Amino acid sequence: MINQSSIGIFDSGFGGLTVMKEIVNKLPEYDYLYLGDNARSPYGNRSFETVYQYTLESVKWFFNQGCSLVILACNTASAKALRTIQQNDLPTLAPDKRVLGVIRPTAEIIGSYSQTNAVGVLATSGTVSSASYPMEIAKFFPELKVYQEACPLWVPLVENGEYENNGADYFVKKNLHNIFEKGEDIDVLLLGCTHYPLLKEKIKEYLPVAVTLISQGEIVAKSLADYLQRHPEIEERCSKNGSRKFYTTDAADDFDSKASIFYGQTIKSVHTNLQ
Ligand code: DGL
Repeated sequence: MINQSSIGIFDSGFGGLTVMKEIVNKLPEYDYLYLGDNARSPYGNRSFETVYQYTLESVKWFFNQGCSLVILACNTASAKALRTIQQNDLPTLAPDKRVLGVIRPTAEIIGSYSQTNAVGVLATSGTVSSASYPMEIAKFFPELKVYQEACPLWVPLVENGEYENNGADYFVKKNLHNIFEKGEDIDVLLLGCTHYPLLKEKIKEYLPVAVTLISQGEIVAKSLADYLQRHPEIEERCSKNGSRKFYTTDAADDFDSKASIFYGQTIKSVHTNLQ
């Protein structure tokens, strides 16, 4: 008898809910367990070592809940922790379990949206400094020019509910100006942080018409569906009762009051201290 359990979805805070929303839309039959490490977010400006430690602790928590498959629905954690966890930790910690990220599935497809062969990546400082996007994209689209811009103020703007207000305009305009100054031929702009889809309408106000704005939720959902099809040994360990559970390392009430903006539905979360 195979031990079945939920698919784990992780983010430093709320952003992963924008990815989970699309995953649940595409694969509603599975059970999902979401964890937001709100008590220690944002991750975006933290060191490699810190993001790795925090992410590893969270992955272990998912494994303790029985999850066989964990998605890091956080670009910063994917950029700074995923490879080490996959290569160094999993083989001894849980060789039969899998941890996947959001950068590779995005890199696999992003070049196909561009006519000019130039894409821009908007992300946290951590994701940009890791150079994960340029490196991963080069494996699939070696000719593609990749320009990056760190937008360190965008996550706090989103988390403080300022994403639709005038306060956001200054930083959105500034970062867009910067990235188009680096690459004026950019015709595809990737929202390389799971918080940024909330700023989509604001970004569109300042975007040249010929530029396509891409967020990752649907890309990651489609990639997960493909993965489960290609890996029946993992798929058969994912339970299918359509349940969704939400955990946060910070106060549950606070999480619930903001989470619906990201998820599109009311959420009732539970606090965990990762023990
Ligand atoms: N949601 C995270 C990402 O996709 C960033 C948020 C943070 O800085 O913690 O990169």
